[in-house]
Amino acid sequence: MKILITGGAGFIGSHLAEYFNENYEVFILDNLSTGHRSNVSFIDETHFIKNDITNKSLIQELINKEKFDIIIHLAAVVSVVETIDNPILSQKVNIDGTLNLLEANKQYNSNLKKFIFASSAAVYGNTELLPQKIESFIDPESPYAIEKYTGEQYTKLYNKLYGLPTTALRFFNIYGPRQDPSSPYSGVLSIMNSKFYHNESFTFFGDGKQTRDFVYIKDLVQAVSIVINCEESNGKIFNLGTGNQLSLLQMFEEFEKIYDKTIDYEFTEPRSGDIKYSYAQIEGLNKLGYNPKYSAQEGLKEYINYTNNA
Ligand code: NAD
Ligand code: UD1
Repeated sequence: MKILITGGAGFIGSHLAEYFNENYEVFILDNLSTGHRSNVSFIDETHFIKNDITNKSLIQELINKEKFDIIIHLAAVVSVVETIDNPILSQKVNIDGTLNLLEANKQYNSNLKKFIFASSAAVYGNTELLPQKIESFIDPESPYAIEKYTGEQYTKLYNKLYGLPTTALRFFNIYGPRQDPSSPYSGVLSIMNSKFYHNESFTFFGDGKQTRDFVYIKDLVQAVSIVINCEESNGKIFNLGTGNQLSLLQMFEEFEKIYDKTIDYEFTEPRSGDIKYSYAQIEGLNKLGYNPKYSAQEGLKEYINYTNNA
């Protein structure tokens, strides 16, 4: 069975590649804009395509040649700020790139058994109705959120119109090894970990009481592996969270316990447009057999151990 992971050299993609490499022939398509070849050193050169999802003819040729059984589409401009700064470029990647893949599969790949699209909890915007449900009001607050919403709706539509076996997953806040902490807009737990590791000061934007549904990467891998084998999920959209919310202050305390020390911290103004509370209703995936296994304590422990011994 052949599986293509777009964006496979990134944080999430490299974990999926590692997992599926056991039983599948894994191919990665990645332009290495934020990902790293070293994240997937176990993938040989013949299975690593350094290219761009906006390259329509390459996508057509690749899909026509390999006729993948499974496609997990993660490649995207992932920085919300970058999409605000350059919506024309991000739309080209996040919407046109997604359409290139869907179209090529429609035309050249009757062998396709599953196409997964990485959407985001960002589509909900700053809703006060919690937990966020699939049928909740959609209120995108950035080009990124609009593009993810468009991508998931196209994904769903290609099932309805052409019978493509597609599923979209709205990822909540995923964390784990290989998440890059180097930008101020990197995932907050990767930044917190880096600050604890280097004994530097951490800045809370706002009062630290904002909550997120933090998902350990291995729970995401579990969810994807269930969806891949589930025809019932075709044409549907699911939240991928844990169903629990924790505040930044609570996560900071967990870091203190695991590191057995504390670091300096300060509070500054909240980020503009920041979401205050967020957690997922995960009934949909639960019904398919998904059951998140990692509490924040367990996930953080494994993450910190891995990162600090790497
Ligand atoms: P990442 O930056 O580590 O991975 C993205 C990968 O896509 C990188 O390897 C990058 O080089 C590649 N890429 C970017 N543009 C490309 C293009 N035009 N052509 C080919 N490759 C390209 O980010 P991640 O956290 O692993 O995110 C993976 C997916 O999950 C993204 O679609 C992101 O929007 C989505 N997501 C992530 C989170 C999270 O908490 N990390 C939450 C919601 C959604
Ligand atoms: C994240 C994702 C986004 C995704 C969304 C889905 C990242 C980088 N962003 O956005 O792609 O669509 O979840 O739910 O993974 N914070 C601090 N100090 C810091 C950094 C952040 O206080 O140094 C705060 C932020 O202001 C925010 C919270 O931590 O309140 C989480 O921030 P972040 O990890 O960037 O994630 P989201 O904004 O939720």
